[in-house]
Amino acid sequence: MIILGFESSCDETGVAVVDTQRGLLAHALHSQVAMHEDYGGVVPELASRDHIRRVLPLTREALAQAGLGLDDVDAVAYTAGPGLAGALLVGASVARSIAWARDLPAIPIHHLEGHLLSPLLADPRPEFPFVALLVSGGHTQLMRVDGVGQYTLLGETLDDAAGEAFDKTAKLLGLGYPGGPALAALAEGADETRFELPRPKLHSQDLDFSFSGLKTAVLTRLRQLERDAPEGRVAESDRAALAAATQAAIVDVLVAKSLRALKETGLKRIVVAGGVGANRRLRERLVAGLARLKGQAYFPPLALCTDNGAMIAFAAAMRVQAGLADLTDTKPAFDVHP
Ligand code: KG4
Ligand code: ZN
Repeated sequence: MIILGFESSCDETGVAVVDTQRGLLAHALHSQVAMHEDYGGVVPELASRDHIRRVLPLTREALAQAGLGLDDVDAVAYTAGPGLAGALLVGASVARSIAWARDLPAIPIHHLEGHLLSPLLADPRPEFPFVALLVSGGHTQLMRVDGVGQYTLLGETLDDAAGEAFDKTAKLLGLGYPGGPALAALAEGADETRFELPRPKLHSQDLDFSFSGLKTAVLTRLRQLERDAPEGRVAESDRAALAAATQAAIVDVLVAKSLRALKETGLKRIVVAGGVGANRRLRERLVAGLARLKGQAYFPPLALCTDNGAMIAFAAAMRVQAGLADLTDTKPAFDVHP
């Protein structure tokens, strides 16, 4: 079965083609990062308009890459939420319209399920059950995954998401949007021990996270450095060291809680999904920590860590194979859930 999948929940337009037997055949992606950069964050109205401009050319591109036409498509899938309402509507409208016009099933997919199953696109592919660490701009969760559709929440953030912590502290450091990759780049090679930052809930007995205190700690440090610096200009090496300390604080908590989740569940496999999963220090520290537990970490291919259409089409394919998709649903209902 050939599935055409659409992602448009935030600032990436993604379209992909997945074969339930052969896996991912093609995916096309447009990131709006450059467009939103001037505003320091995603502007919802601009995002929706850009999705409208990009979605059909990307659909043609993905189908052409796969060497297929719309006639070959057996079902469509789309991100139904969570996300920006107007942005979600674009992908949902296009997917639903194609389904309605061609009498094809339309499969709504939860954005986080897309991220959660995306490490299964990697080689080697993790077997169920596993623990999943979901770390995106909007979510930070640890889940136990026993199969497609069988998810148990083990712990989550009580305030900011890990990606949000990266983005907000990056903003304090004067870095552009999105902050995560920019902060990681600034931190590269810097001394992460020069500044000590709090690691909230590091030793708590639960599997929850809290990151909101980190930005206050970084702000306090930064103000102090500004006061001490000639003309208030913080040295580049201090900014880099503060970025490195921030990254270290976030990553240390993520790794400690991930290892605790494995110990508590008795599982040996952990998959990391969501944009923050692209972070190199997180990958390295997790792999090092797992060596002691004889556990194994699985990551989605780097290009599929942040939002994309492949994970949506793939999650739909997994649902179809597990008998969890309603293949009679062709009605044009826009069931988005921002
Ligand atoms: O999954 P995603 O693309 O979108 C959401 O669903 O939120 O995640 C985006 C988040 C942003 O907060 C971004 O700063 C963060 O992932 N991110 C990173 C890195 N690449 C993206 N954070 C840390 N290090 C990175 N290399
Ligand atoms: Zn996402």
